[in-house]
Amino acid sequence: MKYAHITGWGKFVPQRVLTNDDLAHMVETSDGWIRERTGIAERRIAGPNETTASMAIAAAIEALDVAGISGSQVDLIIVATTTPEYAFPATACLVQDALGATHAGAFDLSAACSGFVYGLSVGADAIRAGSANTVLVIGSETLSRIINWKDRNTCVLFGDGAGAVVLQASDQPGGVLSTLLRADGSGSELLIIPAGGSRHPITPQALEQNLHTIHMNGREVFRFASRVMERATREVLHKAGWTPEQVDLFVPHQANRRIIEMAAKSLGVSLDKFYCNIAHYGNTSAASIPIALAEAAASGRLRPKDRVVVVGFGAGLTWAAAALEWSEPKPSARSRRTLSRLGYGLANVRSRARRLLRRLEDRLFGAPEPSWTPPSSTGNPPQNGTRGKTYTPSHLPREQHSTEAQGTQTPS
Ligand code: ACO
Repeated sequence: MKYAHITGWGKFVPQRVLTNDDLAHMVETSDGWIRERTGIAERRIAGPNETTASMAIAAAIEALDVAGISGSQVDLIIVATTTPEYAFPATACLVQDALGATHAGAFDLSAACSGFVYGLSVGADAIRAGSANTVLVIGSETLSRIINWKDRNTCVLFGDGAGAVVLQASDQPGGVLSTLLRADGSGSELLIIPAGGSRHPITPQALEQNLHTIHMNGREVFRFASRVMERATREVLHKAGWTPEQVDLFVPHQANRRIIEMAAKSLGVSLDKFYCNIAHYGNTSAASIPIALAEAAASGRLRPKDRVVVVGFGAGLTWAAAALEWSEPKPSARSRRTLSRLGYGLANVRSRARRLLRRLEDRLFGAPEPSWTPPSSTGNPPQNGTRGKTYTPSHLPREQHSTEAQGTQTPS
């Protein structure tokens, strides 16, 4: 029997900090209200060159370094995100390309804030079934680009960042021991971005009404979260054969400190056993649990053999939990790390060479005019029917982001 061990972890958060006081200059709110009602003091906001893919790649490289392996050894890449680089292709494919993961399948997973735990479950199942040996599970979000910065009900809650783990097959018992995935689509309208999909494509009217940004019924989501956090945790503990007291660390989705406090209380567990970093990052959706895992491991709060429960909830509605036995860290030797960096450089060269080859083929054999030309690296909006120069993929530097509709511009 195969077990899926977590052998690597990493995180990336943008440098830019947006404090509650900064927000109080933008909407009618206060540091006191936000701290008291949510536990959030500040959050990170992606810079103009940072995107969901670029942050995912940075977190993934750190996780691969900890695991002491290179991208070419990965069989499957799952990126959990609600803010993908594009509707398609999948952000996971951009990560695959940047890591030189030439033997990997790659797909995005849409389960909002539960996405990382969903990904962990799917990745562990692939290992148990024997279809993969090494899986990279990433949560990455650029929520600042889908927030209505004029809506105080939502804009104070969210932040940007990415976290990643490496799952590797082993015959030794441990790793991901039990998982639980659940959904209730009857609550889909409680937390939603109404426009931008097939039901409501983006139109000038949709933009005017900010339908391309997060809409949330906070009180209902709060009630739902308070219920499922306890229930999902108990179910996954039951499956693993553990009691709440036997767990060394709970790593919950970081949405609201009060939700975490209620979960601790209803499980009868000391709040000290719950990892909480919401004060610094706010709610980073699918990224919040892997960021917390990476921090907990780096700070020594997670040690080999520790019993860990991760539990998340979010739009869908979805919720998910997993019981894990933490594995040995594998600090990579400096030479190994240097080799890996070299590998990512080569992956970049390989990617550019393949693009060049495609253009040469176009020239030689002729190709129809593209109906859409990607924006240039200066961030110009897409032009219909004109052939552009070299496209700079958005996981490479970009100079300005394109959320220009009213209310969605990231605060300056
Ligand atoms: N500053 C000041 N006042 C505010 C703010 C703000 N930022 N936001 C709301 N208020 C006001 C409201 O307008 C309301 O005023 P009113 O009584 O005059 O109408 C008052 O504060 C209380 O509003 P409530 O909604 O009852 O406040 P509550 O204590 O429930 O806190 C919150 C709101 C923080 C949104 C909470 O409901 C919550 O955390 N809900 C869960 C949200 C969540 O977890 N979402 C993410 C899910 S994960 C995912 O998939 C993305």
